[in-house]
Amino acid sequence: MTSAPQTEQANIRVRVPAKINIALGVGAVRADGYHPLTTVFQTVSLYDKVTAELAKPGIFELAVDGIGEGVPRDDTNLALRAAKLLADRYAPNEPLGVSLNLLKAIPVAGGMAGGSADAAASLLACSVLWDLDVELEELRELGSELGSDVPFPLLGGTALGAGRGERLLPILTRGHYHWVLAFAREGLSTAAVFRRFDEIGEVGSLDVPTELLDALGAGDPQRVADQLRNDLTAAAVDLQPGLTDTLALGREHGALASMVSGSGPTCAFLAASEADAIELSTRLASEPSILGAKRVSAPAGGAKLVS
Ligand code: C5P
Repeated sequence: MTSAPQTEQANIRVRVPAKINIALGVGAVRADGYHPLTTVFQTVSLYDKVTAELAKPGIFELAVDGIGEGVPRDDTNLALRAAKLLADRYAPNEPLGVSLNLLKAIPVAGGMAGGSADAAASLLACSVLWDLDVELEELRELGSELGSDVPFPLLGGTALGAGRGERLLPILTRGHYHWVLAFAREGLSTAAVFRRFDEIGEVGSLDVPTELLDALGAGDPQRVADQLRNDLTAAAVDLQPGLTDTLALGREHGALASMVSGSGPTCAFLAASEADAIELSTRLASEPSILGAKRVSAPAGGAKLVS
């Protein structure tokens, strides 16, 4: 990656998207504690912004703005860990430091990989800030060490995910999909949802969802809606029973389909058109049981530098 000298870029800004899993097949837990997945991810037009500024050598610090309640501010923060991992791996002998600012719009513990998106953005921003010789593919590799969902926001679009979700194959799709997201008042821990999945004991399917991929290629929202699937639904609903009502509200208000996003509790509703999405989001926003509703389109682009 080439860039201007450090003196000209003391401040690098990256916009990074949230994701939804439009198919999430989950197998039996592996010996390492992770679950094998076959998933279809899509990035949506809901973005965090991560700014990286040069700091004194050895200083790795973080500030959080926006809807950042619950984001760890200490060394456990995934975006800070990402910056340190990048420095250790690509410039172990250089006196690097960074001051990160996360402007959060992606819900925390919402099943939309917000923390992973921030880590992905941190990798990209710091690689430019420090003028490192590193390719995007190498950032994705590094990202997979930090978390299963870190590589995808660097790619963006639509992808088939395998392994624990970190192995990606880009998928060609036609058209844009209009989704409405419903945010919940309480978050859900991904690890807790996977644990509940184990306790329930119903293992899902790891078959590639070929009919969904065909429907995405045809650009037909109704066919896509018919193929949406999430094997973590029962576990998420078990931990947050109110999600049953949220899912039903989407259908009552005209969604083609309702689904839990990833490990939840955010719910995603597919609309037939932009006009339908506007109406659906207005109706959902007035439901007292829902924290808020937001209209997004998909697929969105991956993490990118912005001014
Ligand atoms: O990979 P990441 O650290 O984001 O995952 C968070 C937690 O979610 C893991 O610690 C694990 O408990 C669970 N997980 C899983 N199987 C996956 C992905 C995540 O069990 N494929």
